[in-house]
Amino acid sequence: MPTALREWERIAAHSHITGLGLEGLKAKPIAAGMVGQVEAREAAGLVVEMIKKGKFAGRAILLVGPPGTGKTALATGIAKELGRDVPFIPVTASEIYSAEIKKTEFLTQTLRKAIGVRIHEMRRIYEGEVKELHINQEPHPYNPYTKIPTGGTIKLATKDASQTLKMDQSFAISLIRQGVETGDVIQIDADSGRVAKVGRSREAAEKEKADLTTVQVVDVPAGPVLKHKEFVYPMTLHELDVAQSRAGVSMFSLFFGGEERKEISNEVRMEVDETVRKLVEEGRAEILPGVVFIDECSMLDIETFSFLNRSMEQELSPIVIFATNRGITSVRGTDLKAPHGMPLDLLDRLLIIATKPYSRDEILEILRIRSKSEKIPLEPEALEYLADLGSETSLRYAVQLLAPAYEVALAEKSKKVAKKHVERVRGLFIDVKRSVDYLREFEEKMLK
Ligand SMILES: Nc1ncnc2c1ncn2[C@@H]1O[C@H](COP(=O)(O)OP(=O)(O)O)[C@@H](O)[C@H]1O
Ligand SMILES: [Mg+2]
Repeated sequence: MPTALREWERIAAHSHITGLGLEGLKAKPIAAGMVGQVEAREAAGLVVEMIKKGKFAGRAILLVGPPGTGKTALATGIAKELGRDVPFIPVTASEIYSAEIKKTEFLTQTLRKAIGVRIHEMRRIYEGEVKELHINQEPHPYNPYTKIPTGGTIKLATKDASQTLKMDQSFAISLIRQGVETGDVIQIDADSGRVAKVGRSREAAEKEKADLTTVQVVDVPAGPVLKHKEFVYPMTLHELDVAQSRAGVSMFSLFFGGEERKEISNEVRMEVDETVRKLVEEGRAEILPGVVFIDECSMLDIETFSFLNRSMEQELSPIVIFATNRGITSVRGTDLKAPHGMPLDLLDRLLIIATKPYSRDEILEILRIRSKSEKIPLEPEALEYLADLGSETSLRYAVQLLAPAYEVALAEKSKKVAKKHVERVRGLFIDVKRSVDYLREFEEKMLK
């Protein structure tokens, strides 16, 4: 599956999260799409401060907590707080072993994907406020039961002119990933199709009484939609590696979706590092170390851990955030038991943050936010009922019932999900506890 698609799917469940929702170092109860988990968010906020001040070198974070307590959500929040154009690369430990390239190559690529390079160039760009946005959705090519964006049209307007542009799939995905909506001011590089979100237009921000601490308000530009101007490219070291290894292709004409999984030689990487160093010296580029998020890290083996340990000591390394829900377990590739299945020299580098199960009210607020971002209207009674289900079973289960409940509602020609629709899907899809009970009961009967 193309990497862009895989990453898109993984990030979609957390699209409601725009930051950690802090005021100074204190967490607001509900802000930036985040609910509760106050201590973990405040700890994460401190980490962000240290990273920004360059005091986090050589360290890493470990998020520990039961499934569905917001570990991935928190990592997403950290990446958002680090700022625009800062890469966030989520991988699961099992992916490292299933990749068709060598383990170390996969890891090197992953680390280099998480180092952003912001390049400034004079380019032809389309610039303006998004007036209309139509994105077509189609079933996924390998998984027809999920929908993915396939293309669409976008209408941009300046103070003086307007223009409608057609877009392809990677363009549509990049718009969604950046959360581009009508009322945003954006720039599009005319030759590569790269998109940069500049901010929210003053008019749109005033109309929706936007929270000015999290929204960047900008003026709508003047002049024609297409113009010559300095464009800022958020690239990554890995994208530059790929461009460089395809000799003759300008790195500026690269679409981010066109990446192949193959090995990249050391010389190529050295040339890229040299080019980037020059650009930085000339003031034409800035380096933005990002975040690699490694989920299920207790499944990593000893070789991988020592590779990561070594790379954290290097001059240019991203922030590594591990997550696990395992306690004492053996380190893969050894007979040693260790906390979280991690070798001690790595454990020494870690700041550990725990995420705790949610209260019913917190589950309710998360469901409210998720339903809004999935555009699923809920009757208050349905929301209350889902919150009950979530606290009796799990947050994930309740979140997962949203989409099927909406289907039932639509089938009954109802515009909103009512309690009865949730009851219906609760009967159809059982939660883990009920599925285990069911099998146990079944087994007992079989033994009699
Ligand atoms: N504190 C929170 N605020 C808002 N949404 C949350 C919060 N915690 C979890 N979620 C959302 O609930 C779902 C499950 O959480 P997730 O981060 O995947 O849990 P974990 O990674 O610990 O298994 C995701 O959609 C996530 O974005
Ligand atoms: Mg997770």
